[in-house]
Amino acid sequence: MRYTKTLFLFGVISLFSVVFLYAEANKASAPKEVVITKEMKKKFPIKNHHEKLSLDCMFCHEGQGKNPEKFGYVDEKVCISCHKSKKHLADRLKFMDKLHVNPHNSIHDGPTLYCDECHNEHKPSVNMCSECHEKEIQTNLWMRKTP
Ligand code: HEC
Ligand code: HEC
Ligand code: HEC
Ligand code: HEC
Repeated sequence: MRYTKTLFLFGVISLFSVVFLYAEANKASAPKEVVITKEMKKKFPIKNHHEKLSLDCMFCHEGQGKNPEKFGYVDEKVCISCHKSKKHLADRLKFMDKLHVNPHNSIHDGPTLYCDECHNEHKPSVNMCSECHEKEIQTNLWMRKTP
């Protein structure tokens, strides 16, 4: 009888230890901070204009989890949080309105286009206007190359 009781107690204690150890091991393997390795920085290079401001990945990928490999789409709200507003961006290139070539105040759509119709961060940007005005865009006749 006494022997069974001890055995039972021993069993319960071992079970607790296993659960405790498992939880501890998990805690240790889950990083508290998002770790950005050199390889990740190389794989997802940031545009020069942002690089020289030392923009961290998290400025744009906040709330997208702890695994940088799984970062994804960045809403333009993030861009606008620093670049103020579409109106502000349009006004900064107001001198281009004279020839109707302000990319931020499109002759067709006004200041409504999504940033990612032209700007990319980790790959070369692609100017959407060139879909229909290839010559003017490729020769930089209307505007400079999309940064
Ligand atoms: C943490 C703030 C911040 C965020 C977020 C941010 N930017 Fe910027 N960006 C800047 C600053 C500051 C500059 C340099 C000053 C300027 O041109 O306004 C800049 C410059 C630029 C330039 C200028 C290129 C040039 O040659 O003049 C482009 C294009 C740009 N950003 C696009 C974007 C887009 C698109 C996003 C969203 C994916 C974005 N930015 C998100 C702060 C930010
Ligand atoms: C239709 C294509 C297009 C769209 C859409 C677009 N851009 Fe641009 N952007 C350009 C081009 C082209 C330039 C360079 C213009 C020039 O100087 O000739 C530029 C320049 C810039 C600059 C530097 C010029 C400045 O204001 O000093 C910033 C910052 C910028 N874009 C941010 C944005 C953000 C943020 C968005 C989204 C709200 C956006 N752009 C949407 C094509 C676009
Ligand atoms: C200025 C904003 C900005 C910063 C800073 C930034 N990203 Fe991004 N990231 C984007 C945008 C915008 C996209 C959407 C695709 C694109 O434009 O290249 C993206 C897409 C991604 C993707 C999805 C895969 C893909 O190419 O579509 C990964 C992964 C990623 N970024 C990782 C990173 C890492 C790692 C860092 C830091 C070294 C970083 N990003 C810094 C804006 C940013
Ligand atoms: C889906 C096709 C398409 C796209 C994309 C497009 N355009 Fe156009 N655009 C046209 C057509 C069609 C015309 C009228 C015919 C013409 O003049 O070539 C035109 C005319 C123009 C004109 C001449 C009108 C004038 O008043 O001188 C300008 C400038 C222009 N577009 C600028 C732009 C800019 C800047 C963008 C990018 C923000 C753009 N377009 C994107 C199809 C397009």
